[in-house]
Amino acid sequence: MYGIIEPCCTLAVSDARFAVGTRSGERSPAGVAGACGPRETLRTSWRDTALPNQPTGTVTRGGIRRSLFCLLQNRVSSRLPQVQQMSGSRDCVRSCSDDKKVFCPMLYQHMVRPLLFWLTRHDAEIAHERVLSLLTALSYLPPLLWLLRQFWAVRDARLEREVFGVRFPNPLGLAAGFDKDGVALPAWVALGFGFVEVGTVTWHAQPGNPRPRVFRLPADRALINRMGFNNHGATALATRLQATLPLPIPIGISLGKSRQVPLEAAVADYCASLRALYAYGDYFAVNVSSPNTPGLRALQEREHLDLLLAALQQEVRTLAQERGELHPRPLLVKIAPDLSESAIVEALTVSADHGISGIIATNTTLSRDGLHTTSTETGGLSGQPLTARARQVVRFISRETGGQLPIIGVGGIAHADDAQRMFDAGASLVQVYTSFVYAGPGLVRTINRALCRAGL
Ligand SMILES: Cc1cc2nc3c(=O)[nH]c(=O)nc-3n(C[C@H](O)[C@H](O)[C@H](O)COP(=O)(O)O)c2cc1C
Repeated sequence: MYGIIEPCCTLAVSDARFAVGTRSGERSPAGVAGACGPRETLRTSWRDTALPNQPTGTVTRGGIRRSLFCLLQNRVSSRLPQVQQMSGSRDCVRSCSDDKKVFCPMLYQHMVRPLLFWLTRHDAEIAHERVLSLLTALSYLPPLLWLLRQFWAVRDARLEREVFGVRFPNPLGLAAGFDKDGVALPAWVALGFGFVEVGTVTWHAQPGNPRPRVFRLPADRALINRMGFNNHGATALATRLQATLPLPIPIGISLGKSRQVPLEAAVADYCASLRALYAYGDYFAVNVSSPNTPGLRALQEREHLDLLLAALQQEVRTLAQERGELHPRPLLVKIAPDLSESAIVEALTVSADHGISGIIATNTTLSRDGLHTTSTETGGLSGQPLTARARQVVRFISRETGGQLPIIGVGGIAHADDAQRMFDAGASLVQVYTSFVYAGPGLVRTINRALCRAGL
């Protein structure tokens, strides 16, 4: 299904044009990867403890025992290091000594997640709603947020970077779609994310596709979704962001087309959302790659994309001028992993023509290649089956643009070594979605700590 991307592809896009789209002070992807130190395979503690072939989503007695053991051991390990050597569970010992906070990922994976998955087995979206409600409630409790932050957030100068003129405390972000309406932003900060992309938001509030519309594929550590941009609309998001900001991390805003609006009127629809939200976003993502809004992916084609990006960039310039801003806020384009090489090059050329600040690669895929699970559900596939393809697309874009165009790499990043490989492929920043569902809140800390260690 995917076009093969050859390393020696010569469909070159002029580097100079991309240089126009970037700002001074920005570090090149190579520089960013360099900041992480030499390439090495990163091992994350919770990954080491994962039980091979154990179906995700089942509560096992062994799992519970392991979690409790880790919890106990973590308590005493600082005073009784020999306990670790004497323990019969080597995996657990390694993880506990590796990271003192590992018992939480263990608790999540062996107790919380199985229970949550089982309770919401008929509609996976309920789990998402419950978690988001919990995080929303937490967002109103500053003392708890402070505690969470002490526990989860990794603050280290080695993780900081500046990309398209925006400073990021760490390079790991929450991908679009998780917190579409920006209801739990303080909680994401407390969990240690370096940035959050809210949305995709549309000008008109809309309910999305009929439920069920999210499906878990535990054996593949994947999700299939056909949400269809369910959201409260751009104005509601603007009101919420006004009440929530400022935050200590950048906020990206993903813009999409309202379902009721025909393709011919898409430009005005995107522009209306941009206008309503401009004051609140540190960057804006033009989502033309969701597979769940009929016709949306056609906006990736040269003719449509040209019109759309020209209008949005004009709008951004006008808004920046009105607000007295020296630099217009960065506009990025999010592309699908299903594009052929030539279609990617076309999108890159149009992006360069309009001075786009970066590319987000990739959205979910329509491909079902490499799945162990048989599923007839329609929608976009995310998670582990997407890892290699997303990285391939990032590498291709980086090569085509001579490493001059910032890339946010997203798709199947589940471990620190996935993130590192994405940086090696040319990404300046990375995002996660599906692995957060499977690994839980410890994921961010685990990846950031491993990136720090690699940078030592
Ligand atoms: C349930 C669900 C909803 C999503 N909604 C959006 C969305 O509204 N806008 C968007 O740009 N991407 C959306 N995505 C795609 C993710 O942002 C991400 O690009 C994709 O899932 C690949 O990353 P992952 O493998 O880490 O999940 C969604 C993904 C999932 C699983």
